[in-house]
Amino acid sequence: MTSGQTAAELARVRADFPLLARTVRDGRPLVYLDSGATSQKPTVVLDAEREFYERHNAAVHRGAHQLAEEATEAFEGARETVARFLGADAGEVVFTKNGTEGLNLLAYGFSNASAPGALAGADEAWAQRLRLGPGDEIVVTEMEHHANLVPWQELCRRTGASLRWIGVTDEGYLTDPAEVIGERTKVVALTHVSNVLGTLNDLSPQSPVITAARAAGALVIVDACQSAPHLDITHLTAADSGVDALVFTGHKTLGPSGVGVLWARRGLLEALPPFLTGGSMIEIVRMEGSTWAPPPAKFEAGVPMAAQAVGLAAALEYLMDLGLDRAHAHDQELARHTLELLEQRPWVRVLGPGLDALADRVGCVAFVVDGAHPHDVGQVLDDSGIAVRTGHHCAWPLHRRLRVPASTRASFAIYTTHEEIDAFATALDRVPQIFGLGESA
Ligand code: ALA
Repeated sequence: MTSGQTAAELARVRADFPLLARTVRDGRPLVYLDSGATSQKPTVVLDAEREFYERHNAAVHRGAHQLAEEATEAFEGARETVARFLGADAGEVVFTKNGTEGLNLLAYGFSNASAPGALAGADEAWAQRLRLGPGDEIVVTEMEHHANLVPWQELCRRTGASLRWIGVTDEGYLTDPAEVIGERTKVVALTHVSNVLGTLNDLSPQSPVITAARAAGALVIVDACQSAPHLDITHLTAADSGVDALVFTGHKTLGPSGVGVLWARRGLLEALPPFLTGGSMIEIVRMEGSTWAPPPAKFEAGVPMAAQAVGLAAALEYLMDLGLDRAHAHDQELARHTLELLEQRPWVRVLGPGLDALADRVGCVAFVVDGAHPHDVGQVLDDSGIAVRTGHHCAWPLHRRLRVPASTRASFAIYTTHEEIDAFATALDRVPQIFGLGESA
């Protein structure tokens, strides 16, 4: 039993995820501790996608026939569900392929804003914030996933703006944002939760980063890919949150792959030029040029991923029915149990906030075993049926900052059990034995 859910509740949750019942590596029960990379999917999600294809499949927003109408209703209904999950308006919800595409959509929107006439008719206050050039600065952090770093590097290259970054302390926290965010800052793009350290960055309206961004008049863009599966993130979209846009991805949030979400303030979506152009996103097309549909359609060129959006809506309904508070409490309990077990193993070095700062992190626990390469650690665990992620987890600069080439990461979801974490710790004990680290252990 955990404080997040009773044993019976957890057993019921697990029964909803068919894949968890399978075995791996010659009949060993699967222990899936890689939900930070992608989560498993409950039956309701699989059923929702299947039902869409079996009964309603048609290209949405096209066609005068009944199926087209049903498919459009299902797709727009999914948008309403996402909006409810975010505490936002459906008109502010754009479906993307994943979190990475949402961030690229924003970054390309900024550089497209520099094209002649791109901001014609846009609200001047928003237009000012979108024009980037030499002398302007974009601020990220050293704990970003590559998805929230490389698009901004490329935007700087295209516009002549400069990239600056907030550092990371040895304990896995951001350094003082006020040292980096200043009057030249136009954009602050940062993660809500680090996919390596598990650190939950304080993004409350009074937090140092939001306060500094507000003072600079900078747009704040949040990567919520690692927080959306574990926490209520509606505070980020509240009117006075200081956050202007966020992204999250379906496949980490119990939903299908191929669908993600960009939420942004209506004014920003109205002023921002499109990223992808083509069908569906237009108002009028002439051979001489075209005008754009209002958002969110302006950012959804082509036939969208309707079945996946419907699957994502089923996933978010599942999480909301379960309760985000319950999900968070469960995650905290799993993180606590993991950190306690790892603390008993002095040959393991955890990256990110420790047991004494549990509230500052989520259950995504990366660690190193000095003397054993993370890939070898991962293989030893895999021999026991335990799936973890190894490598730099698309956060190479962060690993460089922590002076480790790579790490092993165990990450959890609402279906993870204490017993699985016990099995992980027991299997981990084979690492010092196999690699002859006995003396240092
Ligand atoms: N971005 C995913 C991770 O952190 C794949 O593992």
